[in-house]
Amino acid sequence: MVNPSTVHYDISPRHFRELVHQLAPQSILTVGHQRSVELSGATGLLEGPSDFLCTNFSEYKPNPTLDEVRQGLELVNAVKPDLIIAVGGGSAIDVAKMLTVCGSPAAFNMNDVLACGKAPHRESKPRLIAIPTTAGTGSEATHFATIYHAGKKYSISSPQMIPDHVILNAQLTASMPPYVAGCTGLDALAHGIESYWSVSSTEESSRNSTEAITRLLRYLPIVAQTDSLDARREVLLGAHYAGRAINLTKTTAPHAVSYALTSRLGLAHGHAVFLTLPWFLEFNNDVTSASLADKRGIAHVKERMQNIFQMLGCDSAATARDSAIAFAESVGVRLVPLPVHVDAEPMISELAGAFDLTRAGNNPRVCTVEEVSGMLSSLLRPSLLIESADSDRGQGIIP
Ligand SMILES: [Fe+2]
Repeated sequence: MVNPSTVHYDISPRHFRELVHQLAPQSILTVGHQRSVELSGATGLLEGPSDFLCTNFSEYKPNPTLDEVRQGLELVNAVKPDLIIAVGGGSAIDVAKMLTVCGSPAAFNMNDVLACGKAPHRESKPRLIAIPTTAGTGSEATHFATIYHAGKKYSISSPQMIPDHVILNAQLTASMPPYVAGCTGLDALAHGIESYWSVSSTEESSRNSTEAITRLLRYLPIVAQTDSLDARREVLLGAHYAGRAINLTKTTAPHAVSYALTSRLGLAHGHAVFLTLPWFLEFNNDVTSASLADKRGIAHVKERMQNIFQMLGCDSAATARDSAIAFAESVGVRLVPLPVHVDAEPMISELAGAFDLTRAGNNPRVCTVEEVSGMLSSLLRPSLLIESADSDRGQGIIP
């Protein structure tokens, strides 16, 4: 899936207005929470299109549900937008993608869309502009959206979900609280690393994932320690490259484990993904002919892993694991051992049982539920209270 978006960097309000005028819309639907739009400073950008009929939709929460999308589709039916502008994190952009490709509520049977994971092609659809205000999900670069229904997570794809225009404005990410910035950055880094070792990796995806990994490793710690706008720009761009990479490959085992960690423990998405990623650096490197999932062979997987270790500044799997854990700490996310406040054994069985085997199918080494269970036993420690209970944690959960 080649990404045809036009990307605009640090666009000024004047240029944004010009862009909107060039698209000549009659009705604009913005998708984004007023508070985050204001906090992010995007209000200035949205003042431009006020000459047009302009309606806002914000009736959704993190991890948006099918019911919320249906509510948005009612509004789409009423105002018939020919331009949709998403401002926010992954949830805002995912909702906007669904509204863009699904049209009016009567256009498709939404249960069918969820069941097959694909939105049917539309002859004509609104143009879509995506303006991320977090640097992590890369949702502005992918052709899929995550929606929840009846407690289950669904990934819906359509080539028409790729935004026509993406605006990367580093200033908009400056309002992220430090823990959210750390978690979303680690999510982006995981996208880059997982895409690089994915069985579906290609030359193009590898170029994108390498751009992402090198940028994020260099600039995320600077964002954690300073107010540097230049570093934020590089992190936003790194997250975008990572989004382009997973647009081609999708994610792998760390993401497959993470969803239950988020829903069961309330762990922020990036924290949940990166909790197990260092463990998978060793696990994937120890691939054998019996556990090989990548048709390109053991030597190919080993070479990929070695390249990742080098990018981490390491020469072995063990040092790369320790380096990844230390890196997460350097951006404000302490990984292991993760204290949990419940009896660990039944919970670990439940978490391992929820392992997303479809997503794990992209992993270069076959990973069983038993192996996930063993890994979680070594990472979770029954004790006191979950440390993620402070006010920032749990925010910024990105599907
Ligand atoms: Fe992710």
